[in-house]
Amino acid sequence: MKEARVYLDYQATTPVDNRVYEAMHPFFKDNFGNPSSTFHSFGWKAQEAVTDARSSIASVFNSKPDEIIFTSGSTESNNTAIRGVAEKYRDRGDHIITCATEHTSVLSVCNHLSNNGFRITYLPVDKDGLIDLNRLSDSITESTILISLMAANNEIGVTHPVKEIGAIARDKNVIFHTDATQAMGRMKLDVQKLGIDLLSVSGHKIYGPKGIGLLYVSGDNPEIQIEPLILGGGQEKNFRSGTLNVPGIIGLAKAITLCEGLYPEEMSVIKRLRDRLLTGIRESIDDISINGSLVHRIPNNLNISFRGVEAQALLMMMDDIALSLGSACHGKTIEPSHVLRALHKQEGDMFSAVRFGIGRYTSEGDIDYTVQRLSETISMLRAKKNHTRKPEQKLPKRYST
Ligand SMILES: Cc1ncc(COP(=O)(O)O)c(C=O)c1O
Repeated sequence: MKEARVYLDYQATTPVDNRVYEAMHPFFKDNFGNPSSTFHSFGWKAQEAVTDARSSIASVFNSKPDEIIFTSGSTESNNTAIRGVAEKYRDRGDHIITCATEHTSVLSVCNHLSNNGFRITYLPVDKDGLIDLNRLSDSITESTILISLMAANNEIGVTHPVKEIGAIARDKNVIFHTDATQAMGRMKLDVQKLGIDLLSVSGHKIYGPKGIGLLYVSGDNPEIQIEPLILGGGQEKNFRSGTLNVPGIIGLAKAITLCEGLYPEEMSVIKRLRDRLLTGIRESIDDISINGSLVHRIPNNLNISFRGVEAQALLMMMDDIALSLGSACHGKTIEPSHVLRALHKQEGDMFSAVRFGIGRYTSEGDIDYTVQRLSETISMLRAKKNHTRKPEQKLPKRYST
């Protein structure tokens, strides 16, 4: 394997921004106190820094500081939101609505709950990855306690109409959770205007550190209760016990405020790069199909199937560019992604799908190089009939990112 020289996997993770790194730095060694230590200045300093971080994050979401609960990332936030509501509101109902294209951290929790007596509606999507809002409304019953629908998809970048979903949820008095992991920094996330009750965000998708995230939990109008997943010292209003990850929290706050400050200019630059990539691909490679709506989409994502080309083989030959597959490998077999399957893509298109994630440090040169490498590699693979993977070849396991 070659060292990759171009990084186009920004939906998987992002490098830490220098400004985030600098902000975190003092909290590893100098200001290392535990914010729960109330009897000395080490604790006070840490407490003060966390309070400031919480306030600056809250102002970005138009929420109150005490509605921000720090977690280890979006997997934990999604688990806490869905399982926490299901357990707390079980007396009120046993029905949850989600969507077939959600991240596995949502789908797995819903699966788990369905094995434990809950009824789950998995809304289908159309060929562009969009849900039908009438179908959402019609699915709500007296026993519906939660709607969990992501703001933007991690594989195809398709956005759900969060404001409309929030209005439906309010109207029917159902709690609304949105996984905003991929939407943060790519759209405005005002929880009041959008009618969001619970919202998940992860640090490492927005140029912050790994292992830190948050769950916004509406504190009034409505006041949402959740049964905690993690019990212990009662930190975070008892919603999430454990000593606070102070450097992570400082980094998350810096990453979020940077995204907010750079929006929307950063997104217009990224969209121009995305369009340059698409135009380049369209001009130099035929027989492609774009997965997911181009209109209802975050600007930093493309997911394209290159007909007749096995994406696995393509990515292995292009290991100087960091990209992601559109399908998942389990041991020796490749399984089509549940997202592309939900779009009713043809079998071949699912296995030839590649995800392109563009970000803060992508240059025009990166895009042009990628187009050139794609064009020459795809011509080679298409010319060579026999490029398919040998059955005995060991494939790396791919997780949902
Ligand atoms: C949409 C979405 N939700 C949840 C997650 C999980 O986030 P984390 O890595 O912070 O646990 C990811 C990333 O893998 C994601 O893309």
